[in-house]
Amino acid sequence: MGETFPVQRTCPFAPPPEYERMREQAPLVRASLPGGDVWLVTRHAAAKQVLAGTGISTNPATPGHPNWAFRPEPPTPEERAAAQEFAVGHFIDLDPPEHGRFRRLLIPEFTVRRVKELRPGIQRTVDELIDDMLAKGGEAELVEAFGLALPSLVICQLLGVPVDDREFFQARTREMLSSADGPTASHAAIMALRDYLDTLVAKAARQPKDDLLGRLIESGQLTHAELVGVTFLLLVAGHETTANMIPLSALTLLRHPAQLATLRENPDKWPMAVDELLRYHSIVDWVAFDRVAVEDQEIDGQLVRKGEGIFVLGASANRDERAFEQPDEFDVERGARHHVAFGYGVHQCLGQNLARAEMEIALRTLFERIPGLRVTVPDEELPIKSDGPIFGLKAMPVAW
Ligand code: HEM
Repeated sequence: MGETFPVQRTCPFAPPPEYERMREQAPLVRASLPGGDVWLVTRHAAAKQVLAGTGISTNPATPGHPNWAFRPEPPTPEERAAAQEFAVGHFIDLDPPEHGRFRRLLIPEFTVRRVKELRPGIQRTVDELIDDMLAKGGEAELVEAFGLALPSLVICQLLGVPVDDREFFQARTREMLSSADGPTASHAAIMALRDYLDTLVAKAARQPKDDLLGRLIESGQLTHAELVGVTFLLLVAGHETTANMIPLSALTLLRHPAQLATLRENPDKWPMAVDELLRYHSIVDWVAFDRVAVEDQEIDGQLVRKGEGIFVLGASANRDERAFEQPDEFDVERGARHHVAFGYGVHQCLGQNLARAEMEIALRTLFERIPGLRVTVPDEELPIKSDGPIFGLKAMPVAW
């Protein structure tokens, strides 16, 4: 009998408690799901081996992919075809060598140097959002007013998506990633977002601008459908992740005032703190780390056979005492850059330099400009978002 899975995350500061027990048991443990068993990868070294592995596929259309294991019946040929169609340009779902064609085109847009050029614009947006919060009085809801607003505005500017459409794509993304209203609502949101981007890409193709989408169009290397898939991935990945990290990070720093004081006195420690926040929260967990073995192989001493599904428990790997001393302690001076919060291997987060810059500028400026920031409800009353692939807070009321 395998582990019960999935398990719920209920605390803003910790992964599900079951992860520790599973991690102690073995680097890979078996879980039974209605559609068959899957492997759960619990330890840091094994996680890296799977994420960088060559005999491993991420494509949901590959037989044995674990996304289908949550229901008793296997996918129909139509469902497999639909998954394949959705993967066009959505390169997080593609395997090498096809994946590399997209990744190579996009790497220049997200290098350290490129992100350095974006920093003054990010700083300006952060300042404007804080100006707005301050102008409205002595309290705000930090998730909507700051956490979500910043990455949405940044990705709009970067991609060339109209800022005025922000509420539309934020809402569709939320519906798509939530399981609360069932698969039909989620599918409808995907289709609405794809239709919207289909029109946007067609319009941009008539008159390409000097933004990321314009440059991709001008490269002449992607079909219309591929451009829609790429834009979809960048828009969703570019806002919903960072949006959850900013409020959660602010909360954690408020709960560790001595460490916040260290950062105030030594702003050069912010980049290190950001990586610790990413490790500590690990907001992207097993849902994103869905894989299937495409050949028999040994992973950290465990034989995994072709066609067996795998979920990497990223939040468990980032709390593995074999990789991090006292992993449950939050320590901004730890030096946690070897975490897997951005994944590892060919799919390692393309936007990680941008995400780090947004988090650093947002948090540093927030605590500089609003030194008296406080959360107005006890931690237990903060509504948690645990019904989707990205963990976070639904709201965080603050005052100053
Ligand atoms: C704190 C914020 C973020 C976190 C925690 C995060 C996390 C991740 C993780 C874990 C993966 C790997 C998934 C896998 O292995 O299957 C990933 C991939 C990706 N991320 Fe991020 N991400 C963040 C921000 C961003 C931003 C700002 C962008 C900008 C557009 C972005 C774009 C992408 C893309 C395009 C991929 C797919 C890469 C590929 O398959 O080659 N992410 N991200």
